[in-house]
Amino acid sequence: MNGPPVPHRPDVTLTDLRAEHGRPALGLGTARPRLSWIARPTGATPPAWRQTDHEVRVTAVPVVPGAAPRAWTSGRTGSGDSVLVPWPAPDLASRERVRVQVRAWSADHPDPTAWSAPLEVETGLLHPGDWAAVPVGPDWEEEPGTDHRPALLRREFHLPGPVARARLHVTAHGVHEVEVNGTRVGDEVLAPGWTSYHHRLRHRTHDVTAHLREGANALGAWLADGWYRGRYGTHGGNHDLYGTRTALIAQLEVDLADGRRVVVTTHPGAGADGGTWRAAHGPITAASLYDGEEFDARLAVPGFSRPGFDDSAWAGVRGYERDPATLVAAQGPPVRCTRELRPVSVLTTPSGATVLDFGQNLAGRVRIRVRGNAGDRVRLRHAEVLQDGELCTRPLQRARATDTYVLAGDPAGEEWEPRFTMHGFRYVEVTGWPGRLGEEDVVARVLHSDLERTGWFTCSDERLNRLHENVVWSMRSNFVDVPTDCPQRDERLGWTGDVQVFGPTAAFLYDVGGFLASWLADVAVEQLPDGTVPWYVPMIPAEFWDPPQPGAVWGDVAVLLPAVLHERFGDTGVLRRQYASARAWVDLVERLAGPSRLWNTGVQLGDWLDPAAPPEEPAAARTDKYLVATAYFAHSARTLARIAGVLGEEADAARYARLAAEVREAFTREHVRADGRLSSDAQTAYALALAFDLLDEPRRETAGRRLAELVAQDGNRVATGFAGVNLVTDALTRTGHDATAFALLTETGCPSWLYQVSMGATTTWERWDSLLADGTVNPGHMTSFNHYALGSIADWVHRTVAGLAPAAPGYRRLLVRPRPGAGLTAASARHETPYGPASVAWNRRDGELVVDVDVPLGVTATVDLPGRPATEVGAGHHRFAVPDAVPALPGPGAPSALQPT
Ligand code: BGC
Repeated sequence: MNGPPVPHRPDVTLTDLRAEHGRPALGLGTARPRLSWIARPTGATPPAWRQTDHEVRVTAVPVVPGAAPRAWTSGRTGSGDSVLVPWPAPDLASRERVRVQVRAWSADHPDPTAWSAPLEVETGLLHPGDWAAVPVGPDWEEEPGTDHRPALLRREFHLPGPVARARLHVTAHGVHEVEVNGTRVGDEVLAPGWTSYHHRLRHRTHDVTAHLREGANALGAWLADGWYRGRYGTHGGNHDLYGTRTALIAQLEVDLADGRRVVVTTHPGAGADGGTWRAAHGPITAASLYDGEEFDARLAVPGFSRPGFDDSAWAGVRGYERDPATLVAAQGPPVRCTRELRPVSVLTTPSGATVLDFGQNLAGRVRIRVRGNAGDRVRLRHAEVLQDGELCTRPLQRARATDTYVLAGDPAGEEWEPRFTMHGFRYVEVTGWPGRLGEEDVVARVLHSDLERTGWFTCSDERLNRLHENVVWSMRSNFVDVPTDCPQRDERLGWTGDVQVFGPTAAFLYDVGGFLASWLADVAVEQLPDGTVPWYVPMIPAEFWDPPQPGAVWGDVAVLLPAVLHERFGDTGVLRRQYASARAWVDLVERLAGPSRLWNTGVQLGDWLDPAAPPEEPAAARTDKYLVATAYFAHSARTLARIAGVLGEEADAARYARLAAEVREAFTREHVRADGRLSSDAQTAYALALAFDLLDEPRRETAGRRLAELVAQDGNRVATGFAGVNLVTDALTRTGHDATAFALLTETGCPSWLYQVSMGATTTWERWDSLLADGTVNPGHMTSFNHYALGSIADWVHRTVAGLAPAAPGYRRLLVRPRPGAGLTAASARHETPYGPASVAWNRRDGELVVDVDVPLGVTATVDLPGRPATEVGAGHHRFAVPDAVPALPGPGAPSALQPT
């Protein structure tokens, strides 16, 4: 048979085509979404293929099927880029849906790949003028300065024909859930999340085509205080942070099959079709993020979001002003329930209380199935730990963390989960449960931003695996729309220092590109005109820090976090968008330091939570806070110089490189003594000086040796707080003290990473000793069991224990440099890089160290194994074997003065 000639294609297929950060693909907030794709080999052996050119094809998807589609192609672009490639086609319009495909060439092959599978993307409302909706909320009187009972809103409307496509663009002042004709829209939790609301309020676009029908329809919404006006903040917090009234902002756009468009928006008074919004109280009698929710099922309003419901007794609504230019499309995934956990046991405490143990500390809430009489009241009180066998709620400070459900008395049973609160907990005390409480009646719903998991680590030491698992759980618990410090007490703020140190770990474990880019936009808008970065973002007033003061480590997030996103995701756009913010920070510190180049002034948290600091003085660290500040100044100035270089800002690159060199010199002058020791002879001081490359030889070598000595003197116990915790092991390995770094990692005495594990931790703690060795909770005022900062060592574990590190932005080059520690027989790390999956796995076998490396197509790796010169390899699977020289463990250290008794 003679068919048409089959074109000879390279053995490569383009997959994973995505726009911007991948999700959401509906309601994109830009007319020029950047595109990324992955080239994968189709056969077992990867070809020597490396993209040198590509073409993008864009086809409009008409709303009404059958209309002639518009098509556009970029032609061959000559570009080898495949990560966040600039949009090659004309600007998209609002609400435009297109199908995108790409194909690519390699220099070694005459033919392109086949066209990729199409990606469909659709823009949302891109221009302020697209918004006709205004915020509306109930028109009843409400007292400011207190909690409020959530409201229900509803409106009916008529569709004069069959529906082709319907989109709901929605957000709120407060938190909301929307229903259409009795069906909940989407599965988002605590929408619209939390941003710096005055400047940026995110909205999302939902496809509600399937929810609607010709004829009568209804929209309904639940609306609660949330971050907008609910009590929030430390020391009791404040109400009304953004306003005194909650409101829904919704715009439903329905394209009918006959080409007509019907738009239903939130508005006060009667709409063009005569329809009005109405408001009433529903069954939620109280809802607070910190305190919990109360739901009286006897007050349920069945059918309120269906047409035909009688709302004649409902109140009217009021409209409010909001500049639509401040409405922005979400850039990352929403908060969702990502898994459910059943209790591992139901305990009866010494006092006789019933307590559920979920076996895992987490952020979320509990769903119950219960049967009983109308008016029975079930109360759920949450906590992270038990003390003396009872629920220990002291660490929650002023968060009541209590949910209450009042039964309607349905003989078939009732199911309930709170809507507008969440808690950090492992244990739940249940009171008032009618009948017998079984493990099958309750389930913990784990809530966090639904990011894509991209990084894994495992090794032959189960304790390290548990530590790593704890790091992942603390990340999950605190990547809840905002990168928070903790999920349980009355805090849960976007502390800038915490995510500054944890950023690289986060970027390995999950795809946080969109999530953190969005948060950084808030950092920029919250920055004061002089460049001061608030201690937490979104900024909320607190007596003790209003206006905020500039502080090192925390404020440096403005420079260091965009650099992490560039290093890990190849995102140059975020560098450009954050450039002014990053510069403003370094310029401010330059002014504060003055000609001495030493930042020796102001409020500094320094090496926060040094384990030697007394419980009530967390900033009283061994390392001088101004040494920390100057070291960070040098590091941020140098990082900014690099960012300027990437952006082609040559004059700035030279200026900040000069500044960094001057600060480095000043650091040596001020903080290095004649004998080579630092002015603070403490782990964090050396960690900063070495990891930030602030010393020349021979001082560098002396400092490395001194750091190793200090660790040994400390009995291999860690002696850093937040400012050194992510750096100390790097400082050791960079100066040749691999075994000491590994001894720090595997120490189990207090303080250490594995002390927490040995005490049964299932998340990483705020304090090295949040739980004391005698099983009591640390008496310090702040004692969380779910903070991620101390878990930031995981980045070093991935890069150095397993040996998988980025060597060029977006992992376009890899550095494979495992340094197997004594006692481990195997370790591996895997990461979904923007170019595809990369992994390193090593095993000790019969005197050999066998290392398996997988390199994605288009990527090269430098493989640097102990005892042999580094080599370069290309895509594919590679196996190496070198003689296994097990490094000697450093001798057992002296017992630490800090070991709890
Ligand atoms: C938070 C931290 C934060 C610190 C700074 C604490 O209350 O939980 O993690 O960085 O305050 O003061």
